Amino acid sequence: MSIRFDKESQLFVLETRNSCYQLRVDETGLLRHVYYGKGVGGTDMRYREKSSDRGFSGNPYDFQNNRGCSADTMPQEYSTFGTGDYRPSALEAVLENGSRSLELTYAGYQVESGKYTLAGLPYVRGAQQAAANTVQTLTIELRDEIAGISVFLSYGVFAEKDIITRTARICNRSGKTIRLEKAASMCIDFPYASFDLIHFSGRHCMERIPERRELTRSTVTVESKRGMSSHHANPFVILCDPAATEDHGDCYGFMLMYSGNHKEEVSRDQVGSIRLVSGIHDEGFCWLLAPGEAFQTPEVILSYSSDGLNGLSGNFHRILRENVCDTRFADRSLPVLLNSWEACYFDFDTDKLLKLADEAVALGVEMFVLDDGWFGSRTSDHSGLGDWFANEDRLPGGLKVLSEKIHEKGLQFGVWIEPEMVNEDSDLYRAHPDWALCDPGRKPVIARSQLVLDMTRGDVREYLFDCISRILKDAQIEYVKWDFNRSVSNMWSGNLPADRQGEVAHRFVLGVYELLGRIREAFPEILIEGCAGGGGRFDAGMLFYCPQIWCSDNTDPVARLSIQRGTSYGYPVCTMGSHVSASPNHQTGRATPLATRGIVAMAGTFGYELDPNRLTGEERRQIREQIDTYHRLERLIRGGTYYRLSQDVHPYCSWECVSQDRSEVLVSVVCTALEANAAFYCVKLRGLDPDRFYREERSGEVFSGAALMYGGYVLDTMHGDFPGCQIHFTPCAGGIAQV
Ligand code: GLA
Repeated sequence: MSIRFDKESQLFVLETRNSCYQLRVDETGLLRHVYYGKGVGGTDMRYREKSSDRGFSGNPYDFQNNRGCSADTMPQEYSTFGTGDYRPSALEAVLENGSRSLELTYAGYQVESGKYTLAGLPYVRGAQQAAANTVQTLTIELRDEIAGISVFLSYGVFAEKDIITRTARICNRSGKTIRLEKAASMCIDFPYASFDLIHFSGRHCMERIPERRELTRSTVTVESKRGMSSHHANPFVILCDPAATEDHGDCYGFMLMYSGNHKEEVSRDQVGSIRLVSGIHDEGFCWLLAPGEAFQTPEVILSYSSDGLNGLSGNFHRILRENVCDTRFADRSLPVLLNSWEACYFDFDTDKLLKLADEAVALGVEMFVLDDGWFGSRTSDHSGLGDWFANEDRLPGGLKVLSEKIHEKGLQFGVWIEPEMVNEDSDLYRAHPDWALCDPGRKPVIARSQLVLDMTRGDVREYLFDCISRILKDAQIEYVKWDFNRSVSNMWSGNLPADRQGEVAHRFVLGVYELLGRIREAFPEILIEGCAGGGGRFDAGMLFYCPQIWCSDNTDPVARLSIQRGTSYGYPVCTMGSHVSASPNHQTGRATPLATRGIVAMAGTFGYELDPNRLTGEERRQIREQIDTYHRLERLIRGGTYYRLSQDVHPYCSWECVSQDRSEVLVSVVCTALEANAAFYCVKLRGLDPDRFYREERSGEVFSGAALMYGGYVLDTMHGDFPGCQIHFTPCAGGIAQV
């Protein structure tokens, strides 16, 4: 059993293969956090609890003579505002009488087999778990009798995968309306830890670059208020031992499954205790809970690993690939595509597209994707968004005829859409100006000449569902790229009364999830790739609906090394949209070899985004070879265990995929800072079987797993601009001469 409750000590123990999580009800009724970390073989970890009278940390009224008892110093499971805990709170609510104080005490618990689900929100799926009894759910009820609030904390325990999920459901049991001003998904306290925080920040065209910092006595906030999880701050943070490396040390990961405004607060208090609170951003948020209503927070995925950052990443990769992404796509071989965007941007007609498709066929590409510009008056990014009808001047017969012609060539067909947006210069906006988010009497912020549709409105979602369904039914479409190209502003909706405007940002996200869920249900065979100006909505929430996401609008392979490496801390290779584009690169102007571009794109979903008409004969030959190589290695790349080998991207960036049975390995290396007369690069492999033998495919040389891991593989000296190589080791029965 992965969940146990000891009545006498009131201790809950949640156990996974390598980790243990303990919490307990104390004598005041408070739900205290006791321990989260490496498995402790069933030890009751309450022995670590210590208390002392700390000045200015008050005591609950009934325990006033016990001055060591304070909400301000106890490790807590779900902190509240106003009753003596001065660290970041998870829940803040205003009662009808204006009181803002809450005090939650334990009211009961329930253990169920399997994993809970969430209505209207993405969640880690439990049903696909082979042995369902390895997944269990614990739900604990906390109550504030004076406020009339119940909070149900749910924990999904994936014992085999070292994963625990958490979510909170806040119910109004009073007869009066309650205003929630903050409703985080989780809170956790580490009383004796000294941690570094790693978060993933960036900007458009440079997403998810890891930043690691020591935690001092302050609060660090990782946040997005952009209406999207954002390019700027991914909703994934790591707390780790300051000495932790890629391969050693305690690491904890917390991934919020949410695509909108979010906030992760990490604070270190007066005595060094560390608290993390993660959930929907509270700035601009407020939610009215009528009597009997409940508010469901998004889910957080937690994992612990003592095997360093690579170990932690492995846990997240597995749960996302197997229990978040739709396994029908994550597990299968997907067609190599050619996307039209960097090939022709808005400048195309049917003839040009068909010529591109012919070239694609000759290269061995299997799917043609028509990006932006095929609908309404969309001949530039100034107009047309919202008018989801093919532009028949450019494409006579519309997508139906084009998709037929593409299929006749033996290619599958995909199409770009950006449903949540509208241009002022569009028939949709002229007919329904009130469908765009905008504050009354105020001019809205414009970004990329577009406004944001009010996804809280049922009529807007209905319009979009009809448009998208019509497109997908009329034409032969196997793939959709679902884009979102601006930060949201002016979050005011005509759909809601004045006192509910604080709900718009979250209702927007719920509206997007509802629409995506309906489309997925109606067209389950169509692969949807998420996108938001590249990776502006690269989060586990979107992955629930879209098993892959365009990683960045920056396709420069050298920049992509940093972007994809940063993304890999939380997200598996099979989720990262990655294409080979032209050289010099359109975003940076940097020239790189085609071979290196191929190696980097193979650390993702692999495809092309260039004009084949401009390729030389030699480049065409290389591309045909790349596609063959990708197909040969695809299972290993998508399904293998991924390791970051180098500590950084300079001077060498190296990574590895090891098959699940540890018999086959692919090592990829790119040199980003070449030197003359350079030292040799010796790369130490990870995750192999030390006693097995591996044959290097090109040279035929044979090495033991132990040799490759402890002695390493020495690369030949490299030359030229940004050179790279792939080293493929296959199973081998023989051995090398023993000394
Ligand atoms: C976004 C996407 C690009 C492309 C353009 C089209 O920027 O990330 O890949 O689809 O939109 O406008």
